[in-house]
Amino acid sequence: MRYVFGNWKMNGTIAFTRDYVKALLNEVRPATVQVALFPPFTALSNMADAVNGSFVKFGSQNMYFEESGAFTGEISPAMLEEIGVDYVLLGHSERRHIFNESDELLMKKLEAAHRHNFPVVFCIGETLDERKSGVTKDVIKRQLILVKDLLRLGDLVAYEPVWAIGTGVTPTMDEIAESISWVKDYLKTDIPVLYGGSVNKGNAKDIAAINIVDGALVGGASLKVDEFAIIIKAFGENN
Ligand code: PGA
Repeated sequence: MRYVFGNWKMNGTIAFTRDYVKALLNEVRPATVQVALFPPFTALSNMADAVNGSFVKFGSQNMYFEESGAFTGEISPAMLEEIGVDYVLLGHSERRHIFNESDELLMKKLEAAHRHNFPVVFCIGETLDERKSGVTKDVIKRQLILVKDLLRLGDLVAYEPVWAIGTGVTPTMDEIAESISWVKDYLKTDIPVLYGGSVNKGNAKDIAAINIVDGALVGGASLKVDEFAIIIKAFGENN
């Protein structure tokens, strides 16, 4: 099984969600690819209805670790449970860098997700400065060290170099293979490791051809249903 997950970020209205899922279900019927969509919180309920009974799973882009209380603007695990999300995405680089989420906070979120039996998509990745100064492995290790022993069957890790996200620039295929294999060696589990960062219809085949890449976390290109369908097909063909 491979995984093609679409992270819509702060895009996608309720109307967009309905139209998109209808179109996607007409476009693809993957037998060997697990597809999941991560719309904004405001569209999660509608996403639940739209994908109901289909091959498409869905999840939230974030979650707070407390159960309830005075945490203005936050969403609790119980709220997501009520909607029935299949996954919770944690540690996306935009959460880490724009909203200053720390490794410690992300560990608490991961524990809370597990208490509610949500599989987690845990994102990691180095910045350009970190790559240039040769500390990529150290950064990845630091991001994983607190959660390494907590990750469990059903969870996924997404390796997304920050400098590749939304830039149209990707690492070389060798660099992707090297980083993913390093993550897998470090984790020493069978947890699938996805690649993310400027995956699009032009490079999906090449990335899918790297055997140890278990799938893709797609941002911008997942907003266009035809392009997302091409990416899903690329990963299906390379199983
Ligand atoms: P991108 O985003 O595909 O737009 O680069 C990937 C991500 O942020 O998950």
